[in-house]
Parts: sequence; C-alpha cells; structure tokens
Amino acid sequence: MDLIIRRASLPRSAGPHREPVDIGIEAGRIVAVQAGLAASAAEEIDAAGSLVTPPFVDPHFHMDATLSYGLPRVNASGTLLEGIALWGELKPELTQQALIDRALQYCDWAVARGLLAIRSHVDVCDPRLLAVEALLEVKRRVAPYLDLQLVAFPQDGVLRSPGAFDNLKRAIALGVDVVGGIPHFERTMAEGAESVRILCEYAAEQGLRVDMHCDESDDPLSRHIETLAAQTHRLGLHGRVTGSHLTSMHSMDNYYVSKLLPLMRESGVAAIANPLINITLQARSDTYPKRRGMTRVPEMMAAGINVAFGHDCVMDPWYSLGSGDMLEVAHMGLHVAQMTGIDAMHACFDAVTVNAARILGLEGYGIAPGCEANLVLLDARDAVEAIRLRAARLMVIRRGKVVASSPAARATLTLEGRPAQVDFKLQRGDRIEAIGMPTPRGVSG
Ligand code: FE2
Repeated sequence: MDLIIRRASLPRSAGPHREPVDIGIEAGRIVAVQAGLAASAAEEIDAAGSLVTPPFVDPHFHMDATLSYGLPRVNASGTLLEGIALWGELKPELTQQALIDRALQYCDWAVARGLLAIRSHVDVCDPRLLAVEALLEVKRRVAPYLDLQLVAFPQDGVLRSPGAFDNLKRAIALGVDVVGGIPHFERTMAEGAESVRILCEYAAEQGLRVDMHCDESDDPLSRHIETLAAQTHRLGLHGRVTGSHLTSMHSMDNYYVSKLLPLMRESGVAAIANPLINITLQARSDTYPKRRGMTRVPEMMAAGINVAFGHDCVMDPWYSLGSGDMLEVAHMGLHVAQMTGIDAMHACFDAVTVNAARILGLEGYGIAPGCEANLVLLDARDAVEAIRLRAARLMVIRRGKVVASSPAARATLTLEGRPAQVDFKLQRGDRIEAIGMPTPRGVSG
C-alpha cells in the first residue's frame, strides 16, 4: 500500500467502529478499513486515536464575492441591504483576474481547513458572464485538490432582471453545474412561484440539479419552499433539489409547517442553513424579542429531510468575518438551533460533512473501501470535541497525498507548579498521545 493511517477514530457517519481502526490507501483510494491491519506501506501516519474524517464540504458559498472585504469600502451597518448596495458598487469594477486571484486564495484557505468540496453560487445577471468565466477557470485549476461545483445564480431575479434567464442558460452551456434561483426576490409571490416552475422545468430538461436561494426572509408568508417541493415532485426531481437559507420557516405558523415538512420529505428536497449569516442578517427589523432567523434544522432532520450547513460568505459585502472553517459554521449552527444534545451535536458535524456531500452528489465520499482517499486528521478525539475546539487540521489528505498540515493548538504555562503544556482536551487516563508525523517517502519503505 502507499499509505496507512494507524489508530484512527472515525466519525459516527462512518459506521459502527467503536475502536480506532487502520485505513489502508493505494493509488489514491481507500482499500481497507479495519483494526490491526496486517499490511505495510511506503508511508505510515499514527493518528494515536484522534479523529479522522472525510473532508469538510461547504454546500453553499459565494466565491465571486469572497475576500472582497473593503472593496470599494466596508459595510458600515453590517446589514443585508447595505451589503446588496455594496455588491452593486463593486460589480462594475470587477476584473476577471481579480476574481480568479481572490477565489484561488480562498481555495488555499479552504484546503488548509480540510474543506475539499465547495458548491458556490455565481451571479449570472451580468451579461458579460465575467464571474462565470473566472470561476470556471478556478474550477479547472483547483480540480486536483478541491471539488468546486458551480450554481448559475440569477442574483437579481430570473424574471425581474432583463436577460437573466438567457444568461443562466449560457452559463450552463459553458459548464456551470447547477440551476439556481431566488424566488422571494421576484416582484410578487406569483412571479416567485413562476420562477420556481420555469427553473425546475429547465433543470429537468437538462438533467441538472437545482439549488435555490429560497425564502431568505423574515416573512412567514414567504412560502416558495412549498412550490419548490411541489415542482420537484411533479417533475420527478426527487433527491436533486435543494432549498438554501429557508429562513422564513423560522417565522412560519407551526400548523402550516406540520404540513410542509412531510411535503419536503416526500419530494426529497434537501435544506441548507447558513448559521453565521442568518444569525447576523435576519430579523434586523425586530426590536425585542428578536427572532434568530435560522430555519428549523432539528425539526427537519427529525422529519427525515437532509439538512446541511453552509458558510455562505467570507469577508465580502455581507459578512466581514470567516476563514473557511466549517467547524466554525457547525459551532454556530449548533448554538443557534440549540442542538446541544449528544446526538444533535454529532448531527451538526454531519451537516458539514456527509449531509453536505449528499447534496453535492459527491461520488466516492466517505471512509470505506473504494472511496477516494480524501481525509482530514483532526486534533480531537471525536466530532463533538472537534466542534468545541474548532480543532486544528493536523493533516489534510487528498487522493492519498498530504496536501496541508497545521500544528496542534497548544499553550505553554509559566505558572509555578503547573503543567507546562495545555492542550484544551479533557484530562483523562486515555489521553491522546502525540500524533506521529508521516515518515518521508522512501525512508521506511
Ligand atoms: Fe447565499
């Protein structure tokens, strides 16, 4: 074998492995997952009981806007409306090279954070399709180390913005993967519903997936998710359609939601919440009590709907923070949704890994023989500790090769009579030993 990772603890989603296992890798794929693997490899990594997970997946991002913080000015109020105005000021100044440079820089951050698959929306309302061409170029360039999936996103409304539907079709013809939409931004509820219909019909015709910004609103009567689920069912798009944000569901009447959730389940519509952005942008017009504005994550999960968390924005007109860390996203989602039960915390880890991978339709994702050897070794014993500590990504592995590494977070105390090193994990008898670094190729094998 090329590489064996010894004594890896796995996340719950990888199956019922109670004890640490060895992961054997050959030609970029996982070939064995078992305790005490009797084989040798050119390179071995001792995980010493730490968590090894499939990579983080961000199912909802805007790479055309990322890292534009301060261009041409910062968002002084921090509101959605000023963010939209700011994006309008920035758009005419965008150059293809600047878009590519910023996106590539973000992809470097992502890889360093163990984030190896991203679904990014790209605005198609500019008839030059500058951002589309730039992100298609980025997709080609990063393919060896990161799966970038693009959504043709008519930011200003497919019906409301002249020429947007044609632009969207041109973007798809150029190689964009997914059909986007924004029904709540159309002029009326009726036009919103009409936009859902035409976009879903187009996706069905083309055999594509759909991911719409849907009901990103505090208005409980913004019910485009109902139309999205109904059109999905009508057109047989089960399992290929996603509603992003869905924040109006937070404010909806409970009785109505009791009908909506089974409808979503029936059509196999998935949901993406964006906790960092929704907790900051929603309910800005509320005084007190202030709504949280995130969609109903635990209730949807309990109803059998696939729910993932997205980052949405990093250092752009809408959000001045972030660094591509999906553990930060999971941490915020867990808090906003009050998912502090033990199973719920593990479910928040799934929301930034396996659930998101299902939405993208990633093939070969996971830790089992036959899967691509894309793995992240975390400085944590399990998924809950990983979220609590936003644990260091000690090693990031893409198709069997280490592509990034980070030191463990440790502090040195200089208090008399105290231990010199603090590592923030609970002190127990079964304390994790030092992580073994890989033996350089050709030395041990
Ligand atoms: Fe978004």
